[in-house]
Amino acid sequence: MNKIHIYKSIKQLQNLPLEKESTFVIIDNNLKHLHSIFKGFKTFCFEFSESKKIFSTVEEIARQLLEAGADRNCFIIGIGGGITTDITGFTASIYKRGVKFGFVPTTLLSQVDASIGGKNGVNLNSYKNILGVINQPLWIAICPELLQTLPEEEFKAGIAEVLKTFILFDKDYYTKAVEYFSKVAQKYAAQEGKEYGTIAVEEDIDTLTDIIGKCAQYKCGVVKRDEFEKGERRLLNLGHTFAHAIEKLKGDSGIMHGHAVSMGMVIAAKIGDYLKDGESGTQQSSFTQMLIDDLRKVGLPALLEECPITKELKISHLADAVSKDKKVQGKNIHFIVPNGIENVKDITIELDKIKQIANDLR
Ligand SMILES: NC(=O)c1ccc[n+]([C@@H]2O[C@H](COP(=O)([O-])OP(=O)(O)OC[C@H]3O[C@@H](n4cnc5c(N)ncnc54)[C@H](O)[C@@H]3O)[C@@H](O)[C@H]2O)c1
Ligand SMILES: [Zn+2]
Repeated sequence: MNKIHIYKSIKQLQNLPLEKESTFVIIDNNLKHLHSIFKGFKTFCFEFSESKKIFSTVEEIARQLLEAGADRNCFIIGIGGGITTDITGFTASIYKRGVKFGFVPTTLLSQVDASIGGKNGVNLNSYKNILGVINQPLWIAICPELLQTLPEEEFKAGIAEVLKTFILFDKDYYTKAVEYFSKVAQKYAAQEGKEYGTIAVEEDIDTLTDIIGKCAQYKCGVVKRDEFEKGERRLLNLGHTFAHAIEKLKGDSGIMHGHAVSMGMVIAAKIGDYLKDGESGTQQSSFTQMLIDDLRKVGLPALLEECPITKELKISHLADAVSKDKKVQGKNIHFIVPNGIENVKDITIELDKIKQIANDLR
């Protein structure tokens, strides 16, 4: 299982124990400014985007590694967001039947989620992550200072996953994260011109590092206990069933995954209320209301009508897309229901029931 290094400043990345001769660095084009940190290493830059997350990119990287003399004992580092780490991890896993690799995730989403857990892969046509492996990196180096250049919406997409993890596991850190990112949202609104990432990092790097480190450790712990998603790891899908349905319906309009997860968590909380409420479905719990308020405070859309891309959608429109989810088994689906913080359940529910509730909630 992998080791997580937490480095508060970018300079500390130079402390990674690496052999210059045998280390090959794969880096996202948008992070060229990190070249100076990895001076002297064989470095390959790629434009990584969802449309480039395909097998031909894996072949291209492998070709360049081969030409540069990477042998079976080489070490590969992926530096970038989840797209970079997914592709790099997959390439390293099959290059010469598998070589060792490590990650330097550079988006909030990849620092707390995508780089951790060993799922590596690429898309096939419009199907996401169809070709892939589960294979753990040797280490993951998390450096919150890297996030200072991250665009606002990318940052917020990561906040949704941070809050999701703390809803599952940690009331105190949930409160801490909501406070931190609400303050950042307020400062960003007040200081026009200053980049969101800079404000988020400068607000209090120690607290930010603590929040990210804690969140990464929770994901790592779940993966250690349930690497192949037979039980506990399924909890990490909180908010994701309806998020995937939103993405399916609105993917082409550029809805961000984290924003879809934000709205998906609220829908899951509403479904939890419905199931608790003797199925009259009218009572909104104080937890659901708090979740809606907190997501708004940190600048995430809580309800479909609050996001320009989804404002025409109703929960009932999403029900059909839910039935095509990967997690469907026959007539049932595993659904993650949050009834409160640290009070989240993995239930098996009939698809027809989910559809009926979605129709009632509209
Ligand atoms: N393997 C897993 O368990 C897992 C989990 C969740 C998501 N994912 C995958 O992760 C991908 C999404 O990853 P992501 O959200 O990290 O996005 P990403 O890799 O697409 O990066 C988002 C954008 O930010 C840029 N960027 C990255 N770091 C930056 C920085 N520090 N400063 C400025 N710009 C920066 C990138 O160039 C890109 O344009 C999806 O393909 C998804 O399938 C994988
Ligand atoms: Zn997610």
